[in-house]
Amino acid sequence: MKINVLAGNIEKHKTDAAVILLYENEKPGKIAELVDMALGGMISRLIKKGDFRPKTGAVHLLYPEGRLPAVRLLLVGLGKRSEFTINRLRQAAGKAATSLRSAGAQGITIVTDGIGLDAEELGQALSEGSVLGLYRFLKYKTIDENDREKDLLTITPLTESSGVVRDMQKGVKVGEAIAESTVMVRDMVSSPPADMTPAIIAAKAKEIARQFGLKLQVLEKDQMQKLGMGALLGVASGSAQPPKFVIVEYRKGGTKPFIALVGKTITFDSGGISIKPAENMYKMKDDMSGGAAVLGAIRNAAALKLPLNIVGVLPVTENMPSGSAYKPGDVLRTMSGRTIEILNTDAEGRLILSDALTYACRYKPAVIVDIATLTGACSIALGTEAIGMLGTDDRFKQQMRAAGDRTGERVWELPLWEEYYEQIKSDIADMKNTGGRAGGVITAAALLSKFVQKYPWVHLDIAAMAWTEKERPYTPKGATGIGVRLLTQFLRDFEKKK
Ligand code: BES
Ligand code: MN
Ligand code: ZN
Repeated sequence: MKINVLAGNIEKHKTDAAVILLYENEKPGKIAELVDMALGGMISRLIKKGDFRPKTGAVHLLYPEGRLPAVRLLLVGLGKRSEFTINRLRQAAGKAATSLRSAGAQGITIVTDGIGLDAEELGQALSEGSVLGLYRFLKYKTIDENDREKDLLTITPLTESSGVVRDMQKGVKVGEAIAESTVMVRDMVSSPPADMTPAIIAAKAKEIARQFGLKLQVLEKDQMQKLGMGALLGVASGSAQPPKFVIVEYRKGGTKPFIALVGKTITFDSGGISIKPAENMYKMKDDMSGGAAVLGAIRNAAALKLPLNIVGVLPVTENMPSGSAYKPGDVLRTMSGRTIEILNTDAEGRLILSDALTYACRYKPAVIVDIATLTGACSIALGTEAIGMLGTDDRFKQQMRAAGDRTGERVWELPLWEEYYEQIKSDIADMKNTGGRAGGVITAAALLSKFVQKYPWVHLDIAAMAWTEKERPYTPKGATGIGVRLLTQFLRDFEKKK
């Protein structure tokens, strides 16, 4: 699909479908008014009668029948101008693109004047929203149902001011790059666990590294043993698939300190000996979403040529039951030297992360951000509208919050008070790997905090967000690719003063 900004005039522009964005309770802008006139006042009548209310996400399809060069005209609501966010524009773009694909259009033109937003931001939001909204995972479909909707081929953001075309196109390119990485992550997360094993993740990282000139290291089991990664190896011990430890470096920041991104990469979480119930277990193929998001974010950093040094660290393994699997009651010795008593083999994410965080500290990073589908408790605490955030550094947490608001991948902070640490005290080891049902998001983070040394640290629990059962305007059902855009924004803003 091609997205190209064009200077022009919708009354003269031939297209399969024109899209007009409208604010609620507002007179249509200059261009919408001209279109309305061409249609003999149809749009204002629709609004007046209440047949179309320009709420966020509302759409209404019309056929101008020769009164405009466009074959179709889609009205899309933006909600109230006073409540406008860039996320609403992304949603509107996603909604417009998917509705028009369903209608059978192959090329669409979006009128961008009158929205009232910086041209570059606008271009980015339009391309992100439409590309992400149109996402489908078809790799495993061999039967092409006749009714499958045809792909959109072109999207044309149209403006009457030729002066902003350049900036808008620049934004379009940024949005396309970011969406492409997000799509890559969605594809990885959607893939069956047999086709997204640790070896395949390592190969994928290699491919990205080659494409973007990144430095890549993949540690094998014997090297993990030498480094003393007993927690990662413990989790991996039940699996027939050898674990991998992926380290990917992007270095375009001169002598600046590294930013460390650490992602939980469990390619399938059966729960291990503390096996999960059968229902919904298949969704545990998404337990590598954190690691995939880290790869996506670093890919974006490279694509956008950010002046930073970034290291991505991915501990990659399955969590499986077998005769060789680690067991409840075992004590694992982590790379840091600290010991962890296992109460439940299903609390494996914090174990592999403990070694990965210790490894990340070798970089003496300016900040460590970890991202993980860590706890089911996160959806109990926050539902499916927020990423759980905990950490040790207020400034970086604030920056993450801002990145979340900007991208629509919102984060909400939970406390990490010292009293919570009582819950992970062990009688025989330095700590235990579960802290009971109460405050499950927090006690998981409490364990992680033991492995970040003195480095500023932000933890993101995406367990409730990596997979969606509910279709959203630019997020179809299934893998969401959550975290890619959030981390990318965090990186882009890293050194900006506010
Ligand atoms: N990968 C799961 C967390 C998860 C649950 C992600 C649901 C997405 C949806 C994690 O490894 C896990 O199993 N956590 C346990 C921890 C418990 C045993 C302390 C959980 O949340 O039940
Ligand atoms: Mn688990
Ligand atoms: Zn897990």
